[in-house]
Amino acid sequence: MGVFSDSNEPQEPVAPASGIRIIPRITVQAFCENSQTAQMIESALTDRRMSKVALTTQNGSIQGAVETYRSNPTPNLIIVETMLSPEQIPQALDELAEFCDPGTQVIVLGHVNDVVLYRQLIRSGVAEYLVLPIEVGELISAISELFVAEGTPPIGRTIGFMPAKGGVGSSTIAHNSAWTAAQLLRQEVLIMDMDLPFGTAGLDFNQDPPNGVADAVEAQENLDEVMLDRLISKAASNVNLLAAPGTLDQVYDLPEDGYERTIELVQSTIPLVVLDIPHMWSSWVRRTLSSLDEVVIVAEPDLASLRNAKSLADTIRVMRPNDNAPLLVLNKVGVPKRPEISAAEFSSAIDCEMLEQIAFDAALFGTAANNGQMISEVSSVSKINDAFRNISARITGRDLGQGAARPSPLDLSGLFKKLKKA
Ligand SMILES: Nc1ncnc2c1ncn2[C@@H]1O[C@H](COP(=O)(O)OP(=O)(O)OP(=O)(O)O)[C@@H](O)[C@H]1O
Ligand SMILES: [Mg+2]
Repeated sequence: MGVFSDSNEPQEPVAPASGIRIIPRITVQAFCENSQTAQMIESALTDRRMSKVALTTQNGSIQGAVETYRSNPTPNLIIVETMLSPEQIPQALDELAEFCDPGTQVIVLGHVNDVVLYRQLIRSGVAEYLVLPIEVGELISAISELFVAEGTPPIGRTIGFMPAKGGVGSSTIAHNSAWTAAQLLRQEVLIMDMDLPFGTAGLDFNQDPPNGVADAVEAQENLDEVMLDRLISKAASNVNLLAAPGTLDQVYDLPEDGYERTIELVQSTIPLVVLDIPHMWSSWVRRTLSSLDEVVIVAEPDLASLRNAKSLADTIRVMRPNDNAPLLVLNKVGVPKRPEISAAEFSSAIDCEMLEQIAFDAALFGTAANNGQMISEVSSVSKINDAFRNISARITGRDLGQGAARPSPLDLSGLFKKLKKA
């Protein structure tokens, strides 16, 4: 067994690889000092439980990982092999911790069977320390322990975009922010179009996908991972879509918990879930808003938006007093000749943090909408892409590079502990 064992303490048995569930769509990057280690890790990909995992291996050590993550966002899991001595390992990991984004887990593969080191690393927040050589099943078990074991929190962070008024651009901003996060983080993102009769996610990605979300909602308790896989379509690299039918064949009077099962399931399989919520007020909208990690209210700088954004922000704060306060994005700022409420007045009136202001640009947004493209695909140099980058960085709680702030350097114990809780 590769997990360090202390003869004085009862051992946690490593679950046999045969008894574990499918691991969610996480991103894993491994840094290996020996080619045998890289081969062992790569062979994990042939296991069906790893079929959803995006795993890459490269030559390197803890130092190599540090160099990589100095300028790149970290994946869900870093596996790092080290040949360092027990005295050197904590210090090297300390440096790596400076560059780890919240939520990233670290498994260390070492060559020294040392109980003091093992305890020190686990205490400081390293997810697992395995002593090489190990069987690939042990590695899969360790990954499984982190991401699917009983009691582990769902991996998916849920972010809802809620329009203060019809047509303010909430869906457009949700899709572009999700797409930006997927490209920059190189992580799987799911967009769930909750506007069953009129949703535009399929159109915005130039797709004609199946009725994903409607079938998922209809299946309720029968919805499982296999069915969900069938209903999700690929909209772009790392971007998955649960699209709305966008037809009026049926009316959808959803109960309060209509979306609950679907959200729960996607959250357990995909690291980032973006919910495109329609402009309506119903029991299921209220329930959804109360259950998400982040809510972004999208408004235009006019009076109706102001009133509605204030009602939404006040209601959301009361519904979820212990969660993050809603954030505000002001869109379509600067429509020619339109009198507008200033951003400062707007945000102070509703007492919400203004995440971004996005300029009105009929040509750019109109082209993107009509071509089924993202803003960056129409114009990669537009400043509006910075807004999507900032929104993505904030809602994912991740450093997306290029201007987004990194967490300040901390020592290993502090940061890894924070990461564990995140
Ligand atoms: N900043 C902008 N400048 C110009 N046009 C924009 C801007 N943002 C969005 N739009 C356009 O506004 C229209 C409505 O956008 P969208 O469908 O995203 O709004 P919504 O708030 O989701 O509306 P709904 O109430 O239908 O859900 C689209 O044609 C979109 O291209
Ligand atoms: Mg919409």
